[in-house]
Amino acid sequence: MGITVEGLGYYTPQKVLTNFDLEKMVDTSDEWIITRTGIRERRLAEESLVEMAYRASLKALEDASLKPEDIDLIILATLTPDLSFPASACLLQAKLGAESAFAFDISAACSGFLYGLEVAGGMLSSGRVKRVLLVGAERLSQIVDWTDRSTCVLFGDGAGAVLLSGEGEGELLASLMRSDGNYWEILYAERCGHIKMKGKELFKLAVRSMAEVCEEVLQRAGVSVEEVDLVVPHQANIRIVEALAERLGIPMEKIYSNIYRYGNTSAASIPIALCEAKQEGRLKRGDLLLLTAMGGGLTWGASLLRF
Ligand code: UT7
Repeated sequence: MGITVEGLGYYTPQKVLTNFDLEKMVDTSDEWIITRTGIRERRLAEESLVEMAYRASLKALEDASLKPEDIDLIILATLTPDLSFPASACLLQAKLGAESAFAFDISAACSGFLYGLEVAGGMLSSGRVKRVLLVGAERLSQIVDWTDRSTCVLFGDGAGAVLLSGEGEGELLASLMRSDGNYWEILYAERCGHIKMKGKELFKLAVRSMAEVCEEVLQRAGVSVEEVDLVVPHQANIRIVEALAERLGIPMEKIYSNIYRYGNTSAASIPIALCEAKQEGRLKRGDLLLLTAMGGGLTWGASLLRF
């Protein structure tokens, strides 16, 4: 399926919360957080979710040398919208002045960006739209319980955006999205409530489920693990990423991680990581790129792209 990433952009808030700051807030230590998660610091938003999404989108538009009126569809993946309704995607559409676009949100927690990519791919390949702005944005600091050390050290805020076109050299070679609502209580937040998580159970499920879909996607595409140039997984815990790499038989040099800077930014984590990987020269045109995520729902998936 033809799908080319024409532009990428991300935005993270200025305010940094370090592990040392957290030591003053809950009974934790920099050492525990780094060794158990790989996180050193995370960003906290003073701005709204839509503002973060807007700034990331402007950068993606600039990167693609496109204007807001070139966008036909805006998909925004988030679990922390500013309002219950309307969709944050509509507020983003208005702020951008993307008058030709229709816009909606996707709620699939940490897998939201990959679910969005799946929907965008279908819309582009059917020819119904020419260009999609896909955004992952989160303001998780709003729903974190800052007195719960088992969750508050993990999450952060930010936004990443990609402009996708059905024309060009890029391709979505294979993808597989999964959900299992039977496990919803492992990771959830009640309306206006805080994030609740069974970390240990989730850890094991995350490694197993992401490894399974990655293997299936590679098999469907007829691509060997060795041919993959870069894996950009959802950034939840560096130990999950390492365990995934081991299960897939992929060296850590081929895996991109920026978790130490931002923590877990849920739907924003993959697009932010994609932008940074490209900026750092780790991701180039023509590369075989494997994306995978897992999160609340439970939802999980993997997508293999020719970038
Ligand atoms: O984005 C969606 C996907 N998210 C995930 O996949 C998250 C998956 N889970 C995890 O990343 C890990 O399970 C955590 C990082 C959440 C926890 O790591 P763990 O190695 O599973 O630790 P644990 O929950 O088994 O806790 C070990 C100990 C406990 O103390 P005891 O019972 O051994 O005395 C906890 O109370 O560490 C304690 N602990 C802490 N200590 C210091 C828990 N949180 C902290 C903390 N600082 N922040």
